[in-house]
Amino acid sequence: MRQYVLSIGTPQAIVGDLKTREAAAHGGFVAVGVGRFADEVGDLVRTEPEPDPAAGRRKCHAGEATRSIDRLCYRGLRQEVLGLARGKGERRAARAGTIQGMLLVPGDPLNPRRVDPHFAAQAAAARESGIAVARIDHDALDRPDEAVAGVPAGDDAVYRGWMMTASEYDGFAKALDARRVTLRTSGDEYRAAHELPGWYEALRPLTPESAWTDGPDLAGLDAVCERLGGGPAVLRDHVKSMKHYWDEAAYIPDVTDRVAVQRVAARFLELRGDAFTGGFVLRRFEEFTGAEARTWWIGGSCALITPHPDTPDELPDGLDLVEVEPLVTDLALPFVTVDLVRRTDGAWRIVELGDGQVSDWPGTRAPADLMAALF
Ligand SMILES: Nc1ncnc2c1ncn2[C@@H]1O[C@H](COP(=O)(O)OP(=O)(O)OP(=O)(O)O)[C@@H](O)[C@H]1O
Ligand SMILES: [Mg+2]
Repeated sequence: MRQYVLSIGTPQAIVGDLKTREAAAHGGFVAVGVGRFADEVGDLVRTEPEPDPAAGRRKCHAGEATRSIDRLCYRGLRQEVLGLARGKGERRAARAGTIQGMLLVPGDPLNPRRVDPHFAAQAAAARESGIAVARIDHDALDRPDEAVAGVPAGDDAVYRGWMMTASEYDGFAKALDARRVTLRTSGDEYRAAHELPGWYEALRPLTPESAWTDGPDLAGLDAVCERLGGGPAVLRDHVKSMKHYWDEAAYIPDVTDRVAVQRVAARFLELRGDAFTGGFVLRRFEEFTGAEARTWWIGGSCALITPHPDTPDELPDGLDLVEVEPLVTDLALPFVTVDLVRRTDGAWRIVELGDGQVSDWPGTRAPADLMAALF
């Protein structure tokens, strides 16, 4: 055990004792320190920090921090540990004999001994740079032990594959844990990134105003319409839109037209079928112009900027992350994407945030870039 110095803010604040290397080896945050420090950090890890407006950008003082770890301290500390987890040398030193850094990809349903063709180039890029690759069975996620049966023990595993529901990811993470495999992204972190209600409040200043229901009940939409008041809106669920059915299942010309809202939502429900997740989300329509950029955030920093996979040859120029960065960093999620687009008044707007593990990679970019950023 050694004293850990939190390096955000000045004067630097000694916030507790932490086995940083052990934490890094777990790709996460392990507080083993003294009494109160460990307890409080433990609580924060369980609840996940919410943005604390009172904390703002306040600096931590040593006395204050040891008495009560505020959320800003926690986030800064967590970023440090995640950063350390990504340093190759540090990681190798962390636990000799255990795989440090591993890419998990879906197997090909037609030939389970091979990687799913959609992710084969990413798997090959990982192998070429010395990163271990293991296959999972995405079709067996309802039997998670079976789905991960081929994965060897290792730390700091990152999945790149088809979407999972948050509860599937939870089962997946637990089954991996039983095999001594630690995912970089926890179940709670996955849910926060994957479902709009998990990130909306944190990004509210930069994303279209949204309101949602919990569950597929169409009757709940009235209250959501009330909250938006009037005007055009876009419908989706907590995870996805039906953007390819824009007029019938996405765009609502005026939320005061409740008949139209019900019609679009019923069609959305029909098209999404079993994939419907969480509840309905109505988002105030904004006039966007040009293609979206997909930004890739690792340990709270923007590591890559690519085109959105739907428009792989179009990368908007003049992208400005100055307002986006503090909000995404404060979310303290290990690996996420943020899709940005220019509004007609010139402002950069966040279309959505997603878990980086299940965000599609544009076909025009080398997967080696993503692997180099991740590991
Ligand atoms: N509030 C809005 N105002 C205007 N257009 C919007 C709004 N919300 C979404 N859109 C448009 O609808 C598209 C799909 O929305 P969104 O990205 O939320 O759904 P998705 O299906 O999850 O997308 P992806 O395929 O990127 O995962 C966006 O790319 C954008 O063009
Ligand atoms: Mg999108």
